[in-house]
Amino acid sequence: MKMSEDYKKWLDEAWEKLQAKVSAEVDRIGDRIPFVTKDGKYPKYYDENLGDLYWWTNGFWPGMLWQMYNATGDERYKTAAEGVEKRMDPCLADAAGLHHDTGFMWLHTSVANYRKTGSEESFKRSLHAANILAGRYNPDGQFIRAWNGWDPVYDNSGWMIIDCMMNIPLLFWASEVTGDPRYKQVAVHHADTALEFNVREDGSCFHIVAMNPNAHEVEFYPRCQGYGPGSSWSRGQSWAIYGFAAAYKHTGDKKYLDAAKKISHYFMACAAQTGNVPLCDFRSPAEPVMYDTTAGLCAACGMLEIAHHVPEFEKSLYENGAMNLLRACADKFCDWDPEHDGILYGGTGSYFHDRVHVSYIWGDYFLAEAIVRLLDKDIYLW
Ligand code: GLY
Repeated sequence: MKMSEDYKKWLDEAWEKLQAKVSAEVDRIGDRIPFVTKDGKYPKYYDENLGDLYWWTNGFWPGMLWQMYNATGDERYKTAAEGVEKRMDPCLADAAGLHHDTGFMWLHTSVANYRKTGSEESFKRSLHAANILAGRYNPDGQFIRAWNGWDPVYDNSGWMIIDCMMNIPLLFWASEVTGDPRYKQVAVHHADTALEFNVREDGSCFHIVAMNPNAHEVEFYPRCQGYGPGSSWSRGQSWAIYGFAAAYKHTGDKKYLDAAKKISHYFMACAAQTGNVPLCDFRSPAEPVMYDTTAGLCAACGMLEIAHHVPEFEKSLYENGAMNLLRACADKFCDWDPEHDGILYGGTGSYFHDRVHVSYIWGDYFLAEAIVRLLDKDIYLW
């Protein structure tokens, strides 16, 4: 990959700081499950009660640990990652509480373990998780249902969301290892529906599409984590970039690569307006200024994936786009002090939320993935 001497120096320093930080964190956190910081500390862990064990982000700490283990060979990372994987077993035993984020949860725990060690136990967990995700498929609408009913009156059984593009790699994986095409068929139907209804002509995306649960048709577009129904929640754009790039990797269908490229171009143009630190929503009022660095880092990793699949003279567009996002977000928002929890600050859960510019575990994961990818030390977990 073409990289200036200055950038290479910056990247090598970032890798040194990442190792020092995660080494201190793994000694402090071990196989507990962190989510979000408060005043530089994780105030609670998501394995402390059963309800929290189902939380969508619980795979990201072990995902970061597998990346670090793959890059360094340090057994502490593997031991802690395996511990988290076992802690999550009650969710697989009582799957009624699970949701569309089964991919986020087990791609980075059991699938990562299986990829790296060939563990039979991890294989079984992964396939069970894939069956649960495939079971959420709506055949008439041709999409995977988001969430579960959260309101006894309101029917959200037809809702699908752009985030789910990052869950369907679990289904691609299941078809690849079993030879059974059903999982891939479900993933492809969902990706096609997302391409048809979530992605807009200009490369921006709707977060939620409320489908008629009995037909392949849209009812309306609700607001969710962005500013409004027609706005452009940046993390949703980043899920789409990486999700469609991954769908291309697993299927070879060029329309997914074209979608990932189009959404990337839109993302780069929007993020450039704020010095490559993306706003939480690209179509929100000028004030308050609310960034979401986690969107920047997920988009960066997606752009690095795109760069693998485009011809020679296109690569630098996506590589430079990714490097710009990484450096801008890290320089402005990283806390490298090993005594503090969390690395990538500047994460914002959603536009109307009290957690603004904090450190979420998925942001740390994508920061680590971007750094190890640029150094060619990564393991592919999607
Ligand atoms: N998948 C939920 C989020 O991005 O917040």
